[in-house]
Amino acid sequence: MTLNADTTIWQGLQARAAACERELNLAHALHDAGRFERLSLQAPHVLLDCSKCLWDEAALAALLQLAEQAGVAPRRDALYDGAVVNETEQRPALHVRLRAPLVPQGGAWVVEDECHAGLRDMLALAQQIRTDARFTDVVHIGIGGSGLGPELMLQALQPWYAGGPRVHVVSNLDGHDLHQALQCLVPARTLFIVASKSWSTAETQRNMASAKAWLCAGGDLHWPNHFVAVSSREDVARQSGFTQTLHIPEGIGGRFSVWSAVGLPVAVAVGPQVFERLLQGAAEMDAHFAQAPLEHNAPVWLGLLDVWYASFLQMPGRCVAPYHHGLRRLPAYLQQLEMESNGKQVRADGKPVGCLTTGMVWGEPGSNGQHAFFQWLHQGTQRIPVEFIAARTAEHGLPEHQEALLANALAQAQALMQGARAGEGQLLGHQDFPGNRPSTFMLLDALTPESLGALLALHEHRVFVAGTVWGINSFDQWGVELGKTLAKDLRDRMDSAELEGLDASTAGLLSFCLQGSLVSVS
Ligand code: F6P
Repeated sequence: MTLNADTTIWQGLQARAAACERELNLAHALHDAGRFERLSLQAPHVLLDCSKCLWDEAALAALLQLAEQAGVAPRRDALYDGAVVNETEQRPALHVRLRAPLVPQGGAWVVEDECHAGLRDMLALAQQIRTDARFTDVVHIGIGGSGLGPELMLQALQPWYAGGPRVHVVSNLDGHDLHQALQCLVPARTLFIVASKSWSTAETQRNMASAKAWLCAGGDLHWPNHFVAVSSREDVARQSGFTQTLHIPEGIGGRFSVWSAVGLPVAVAVGPQVFERLLQGAAEMDAHFAQAPLEHNAPVWLGLLDVWYASFLQMPGRCVAPYHHGLRRLPAYLQQLEMESNGKQVRADGKPVGCLTTGMVWGEPGSNGQHAFFQWLHQGTQRIPVEFIAARTAEHGLPEHQEALLANALAQAQALMQGARAGEGQLLGHQDFPGNRPSTFMLLDALTPESLGALLALHEHRVFVAGTVWGINSFDQWGVELGKTLAKDLRDRMDSAELEGLDASTAGLLSFCLQGSLVSVS
């Protein structure tokens, strides 16, 4: 069952939201020491503090009823069982299966499925590449889900690099990206990984073609020895000459694919064993999502908070502030994960959702963000929740940095919550402001392969929970297709210089691109 604004639960939540707006003062509420205990929970590798969120236990209880009404638990079980949960494309969503450990049965391994087989091939190839003395550099080409996950993980797991070639990521169609990656590399010592589930993404195809041209420019290299294709369309890659290919199962969505063969550059950088630790951390979060009662279940809380803030408190987005340099691409990763999954206005059955769904997800690493947009968060006329993500300990051996960083993260959450009162001689209205701005705090013990895996799985599941409550299919992305179709048409028009049928603005801009000056297009 999907949500329905006429139900008693929905109306009760609207009333609760109005009451929280009117009466809930976070600074006062947090004089009660029990609030932290009641509204925080320990999930695998992540302490989740929701006590500075603009909700209370009555709101949580009502949201849990909404989750029950929407069938979150049975739909989660269907997801884990490999049932068709992506209704518009008639597919399962198998990312959880990639993390499920293989269990030996009667002395033999259970029969591997498509997911495990692909993963095993990937880990074996990663090990081979790591020990292949020919390659000093690996360039991973992929965009969206085929690029953001590897990029984030490569940065986050940098302390775990051990031996192996240097790994670079190229995503952008803008030639500067590829050009800059290649400028110091030697073709004979370079291996390219081309990751594209569909094998039709224009950006990736363009970068691949240019990479091939760069590699073959000297004339004496056999390009297939320097390329690995990672795709669901291995057949098409092979037809075009690729001899080294890895498989992405159809049921692995792009933005959920970093656990699959798409993670090859990560496994090359950190080695198969560290990659398995990543999977293990994600599997721990999968088990928590599957087994913890909904009222103490971290992805359920976060998914319900997403619904609460968007649909009941009408907040237009969420700021993600990772206080860890290794997580500096987390906001971009979550942008795709959340906005491509739940940035939708219709439910799976094609009917309007009827309320606000996922808003803008954006952010910058702390403490940089404090010197840019945090002023807006503290005193701007619009109000959105902030999500702080920090690790208790760091790998860099500079304790003064770590202590100051943690103090800053905690202070920002505190300042948002309590606001300020002007003292004597201070500027009224400027140096006093009400605060009561909500935030969530996620605290890891340390950023490790396991905690990174758990953190990302936590977000995947929160997206699933919110999508389920809204009745959205979180696994398709039809809106993106329109841009791809129009870009193809405009690319053709660049050759033909045909402006007929275009709107005046697009025609004017295209004409400028073609001729370098404005001409009349009428
Ligand atoms: O951005 C749209 C999208 O289709 C994403 O869903 C996907 O992750 C990305 O493009 C890349 O797609 P592919 O892996 O097929 O190249």
